[in-house]
Amino acid sequence: MTLKHWKLETGADGICWATLDKADSSTNVLSAEVMAELARVLDACDQAMPKALIFRSGKEAGFIAGADIEEFTTLDSPQKAHALVQRGWDLYNRLAAVRYPTLALVRGHCMGGGTELALACRYRIAVDEPGTKFALPEVMLGIVPGWGGMLRLPQLIGPAAALDMMLTGKGIAARRAKRMGLVDECVPPRVMESAARQLALSGRPPRRPPLMQRLLNMPPLKCLLVAPGAKKQVARRASQEHYPAPYAIVDMWQNYGGNALDVPADKPTSLDAIIGSTTTRNLVRVFYLQERLKGFGKEAAGFAPKRVHVIGAGVMGGDIAAWCAQRGMTVTLQDQNVERIAPAIKRAADALRRKFRYERDADKQVRFVLDRLIPDPAGDGVRQADVIVEAIFENLEAKQALFRDVEARAKPDALLASNTSSLSLADIAQALKNPARLVGIHFFNPVAKMPLVEVVQGATTDESVAKQAAAFVRKIDKLPLPVKDAPGFLVNAVLAPYLLEAMRCVDEGMAAETVDAAALAFGMPMGPIELADTVGLDVAMAAGKGLAGAAEPPRKLAELVAAGQLGRKTGKGFYAYEKGKPVKAAAGAVPDDLAKRLVGPLLAATQHCIANGIVADADLADAGVIFGTGFAPYTGGPINYLKA
Ligand code: NAI
Repeated sequence: MTLKHWKLETGADGICWATLDKADSSTNVLSAEVMAELARVLDACDQAMPKALIFRSGKEAGFIAGADIEEFTTLDSPQKAHALVQRGWDLYNRLAAVRYPTLALVRGHCMGGGTELALACRYRIAVDEPGTKFALPEVMLGIVPGWGGMLRLPQLIGPAAALDMMLTGKGIAARRAKRMGLVDECVPPRVMESAARQLALSGRPPRRPPLMQRLLNMPPLKCLLVAPGAKKQVARRASQEHYPAPYAIVDMWQNYGGNALDVPADKPTSLDAIIGSTTTRNLVRVFYLQERLKGFGKEAAGFAPKRVHVIGAGVMGGDIAAWCAQRGMTVTLQDQNVERIAPAIKRAADALRRKFRYERDADKQVRFVLDRLIPDPAGDGVRQADVIVEAIFENLEAKQALFRDVEARAKPDALLASNTSSLSLADIAQALKNPARLVGIHFFNPVAKMPLVEVVQGATTDESVAKQAAAFVRKIDKLPLPVKDAPGFLVNAVLAPYLLEAMRCVDEGMAAETVDAAALAFGMPMGPIELADTVGLDVAMAAGKGLAGAAEPPRKLAELVAAGQLGRKTGKGFYAYEKGKPVKAAAGAVPDDLAKRLVGPLLAATQHCIANGIVADADLADAGVIFGTGFAPYTGGPINYLKA
C-alpha cells in the first residue's frame, strides 16, 4: 500500500505504528487527503488485525495542528461543509469502534481534529515537554469540534472541564492533561515508545471519569445543572448574535449527543447557521492576520537572542523583564537602585505562583524562572546582552543619556530598543554614534495579557534592525506589528480619539455605565471609560493632549486628574474601585447609535494611520487594532467592519 502522508510499520510484537508526516508541509494538518489515507490505514488494520495501533507524529514539531484551514475557507456551500464534518465524524467513530487497542502518542501541540483523533483512541499518552498541549480551539474560528470532540471529551473528563476547554479554546499542558484524565499517562520523551507499547498491550479498560462526572454528563443533571451554568458563562462573554459558535457547542452537547450534523438547519445553533455566518468568515480572517504577524518574526534568519537586559524596573520594564524570563530568556533588570527593582521581582514571583498554582512542583517551576531574572542595579548585564530594552521615565534627555552610555558598553551587534510611547525614535537616536541601531519595541500594559507589540522603525532605524526586533518579539511569543514612528504609533493613535469621545459623552451627562455598556454590546472587551480608568487618567490626559489634538480636555477628566483621582490605581476615577473592581450602577437604556458614535473616531483614526503609512496596509491595521486593543474580533477589524 502506498501512502503519501502516513507511514505504517508493524514490529515483531505485532504492534502497528502509524506515523503521520504530512508531505510538503512542516506541520501535520488533517487535509482531505490525510483523512482519506487514514481510512485506508484503518482498512489495512481491519485486514491485518494488529495487536495494537499506535498513532504518532513524524514531525520535529508537534503531533497534529488540526484540520486544514485552507480547505475550510474554500467551502462555498452548506453541502460541502456538511460533507467535511460528516467525513471526520464517521471516520473517528469508525476508529473508536475498532476491536484492537488504539493509542495516541502525543508529543508537542495536539489541536482540534488532532485532539479528536486522540479522543477516538482507547488510550492517550502525553510526552512531558513544554510544547505538549491539547486544545479544541475551533470556537476561536467560530466553528465547533464536530469530529467527535463534543461527544467524547465530556465523556472522558466530565462536562464542566470539557465545556471549559471547548468554549475557551485554551490549551492544556501535558501534566495537567494527566491530572484531568485527558491522557492516561504523562511520560518523559526517552521512555515514550516503550510506555506506549506497554499501555497499548496492557488490556486495561479505557478510562472512565468518576461517577459524579458521568452523572453530570447525562440527563437530568446535564440539563438542570451543567448546561444552564455553561450558557450563563457564555452569555457573560459573548452575545449569540456576534458569536453563535459557543452557544452551538452547548446545544449540540446537551441535546444532540455532540453531533453537529443532527441540529435542524433552521435553528440558530445549526451547522449551516454557524458556517454561513459572517462571524466565522471574519474569525478565520483574524486567524490569517495573526499568522501574517507571526511571519514578521521569520525575516531575520540567524538572530537567536538569549540574553536580555531591561533598564527601568517600573510598571512596564518590570513586567517586560518577567515576561522575557518566563519565555526562556536570561534577563538582567536594571534600575537606579535595588529598592526599585525589588517590587518588580516580587510582582513576577506572585504572578508565577499564580500561574503554576496547580502544578505539583510549582515551587521548582517558579524558582526556575526567577533564577533567570537577575536584579542588576549596576547595569553589568549590558555587556553580555543580545537585546537591550529601555523602559525608563518618558523623558528625552534621560533616554538619550542612557543610550549614549549603553551604546558604548553593549556588544556591537546587540539590539538597542526603546519602549517609549510618545517620544520620537529619531530624537532619541540622535544621542547614538550609530542611530541606525535604535528601534522601538512598544509593549502594552498589562504586558502578560496583551498579545501585540509594535515594532517601531524610526526615520533612522536600519531595516535589518527592525527585522531583528520583530524576531525577538516573536521569540517571546508576542505578535510583532511593524509601524512607522509617528505620535501614538498605531494602537494609541486609534485608542485616544475613542476614549476622548467616550469622555465627551460623560461630559454631556451620560452615565459612565451607559457609555461602557454600549461598547460592550458592540463587542469590545472593556468599556472605554473603564479602560481610561485602567490605563490611568493622568496617562490618558497626557496621551489625549498629544494625540487627539483636543483644544480642551474633557471636563470631567480634568476635574478627576486635578483631584488626584487617577483611576484604578488610586481607587477612584470615573468609577470607585473595590478590590480592584469598578463599582458600577445598572447601565440604563443605551441609545441605539451610541456604539457607532463611540467607534466612529477610532475607525477614522485607523484610516488616517493607513493613509499616512503608519502601517503598511489595511489588513495590518485591522490586525494591530484587534490584537492591540481587543477591538471586537467578530468584525474582522475596523477596516473590514467599515467595508461591511
Ligand atoms: P515607571 O515610572 O513605572 O518606571 C520607570 C522606571 O525607570 C522607574 O522605576 C525609574 O526608577 C526607572 N528609571 C528612570 N531613570 C532611570 C535610569 N536612568 N536608569 C535606570 N532606571 C531608571 O514608568 P513606566 O510606566 O513603566 O514607563 C516606562 C516607559 O514605558 C516609558 O517610556 C513609557 O512611555 C513606556 N510605556 C508605558 C506604558 C504604560 O502603560 N505605563 C505602556 C507602554 C509604554
